[in-house]
Amino acid sequence: MLFKDRQHKLPKAVADFYNTPPAVEYVWIHCHIGITMNRKSIQRFLTGMQSTGWPHLGNVLSAMLPVIDQMQSSREVFVCIADLHTLTTIKSAQERKRNAEVAAAAWLALGLDPGRVVLYRQSQVPLVCELLWYLSCLTPYPMLANAHSFKDKSNRLAEVSAGLFTYPVLMAADILLYRAEVVPVGKDQSQHLEIARDLAGRFNRMYGTDFPLPEAYIEEKVCTVPGTDGEKMSKSYHNTIDVFASKATVRRQVMRITTDSLPLAAPKNPDCCTVFSLYKLLASSSQADEMRSKYNAGNFGYGQSKQALLELILDRFGTARAHFETWMSRPDRLDALLTEGEARARAVAEPVMHDLRGRLGY
Ligand code: ADP
Ligand code: TRP
Repeated sequence: MLFKDRQHKLPKAVADFYNTPPAVEYVWIHCHIGITMNRKSIQRFLTGMQSTGWPHLGNVLSAMLPVIDQMQSSREVFVCIADLHTLTTIKSAQERKRNAEVAAAAWLALGLDPGRVVLYRQSQVPLVCELLWYLSCLTPYPMLANAHSFKDKSNRLAEVSAGLFTYPVLMAADILLYRAEVVPVGKDQSQHLEIARDLAGRFNRMYGTDFPLPEAYIEEKVCTVPGTDGEKMSKSYHNTIDVFASKATVRRQVMRITTDSLPLAAPKNPDCCTVFSLYKLLASSSQADEMRSKYNAGNFGYGQSKQALLELILDRFGTARAHFETWMSRPDRLDALLTEGEARARAVAEPVMHDLRGRLGY
């Protein structure tokens, strides 16, 4: 089993990182352990997230925490900070750089163990752009033109770039470059996973490669996290609750959740209330039952349920929020850690591309 001999307690390692030897040394030891293991018995997980700003509850619950859970078992995990995908929407270099730091700090604060997980910025392994081109040349145009996410985004954006159009191919390149087998994503990404599987199959048939056909891993319990307006929570809809933002911001976001206008005394239906839907995602079953009874009984206002939700968020993510601040105050450590992850990522990607170029006659 991978890493079975190590009793590694990540949150402590993260919390204590100021007191440990430099991150670079720390990661390097584990890197070698990972690479020399018997590859056959290990499933490789890879996920990616655009670094478009503060991670919100939807990102954290459905994309980040499930991956961190996977870390506990004998798997190889790659986490890509998809800062090339981000260029489709964020043009400012400074903002993209800052967002990549925010993303890295958030992953680490939530408990990602940089010793077990290859955490890297997509842009720092530019081989992915070469693979993007190869894959693009085998991608049928209608497959991309019919992608839900492209249709959705192109309807909303003033400018639709070719980058937005080929977005799913870059994601497929992320996955194939590292020969990932399982890809934890939110439900909205399942079509992109189908595209990646299709492209892997095309390459295997046409060029004799043996790319694994990647499977989506979707956290069923969470699925789609609603935003403050009741629609899907998304940065593009400006309806997020940003887990690592200041208390004042989180409060403001929670307090603006849309509710109906029933009077305080009236009994309320928790199942039609976004505040309750969010509360339920974070609460224990007894906390959720108690809240449900309060809704049903009446004399319980939305102001009170929002306050309870706010407290639950701050409580549940209290430690992570503190760790986040610590990481953000040390960009040098963050950068060293990412650079190390990128060296490990490149070591996996280079032989894959070397083999592929040969097959393509380059
Ligand atoms: P956004 O829509 O805010 O831009 P991203 O597209 O960057 O979010 O999503 C990053 C990851 O988080 C993806 O795996 C996506 O499926 C997941 N995700 C985003 N929003 C939600 C949500 N509201 N519910 C569940 N998962 C979500
Ligand atoms: N497209 C994904 C999203 O919008 C982000 C992403 C980029 C990704 N590369 C990936 C997800 C590789 C999984 C695997 O959420």
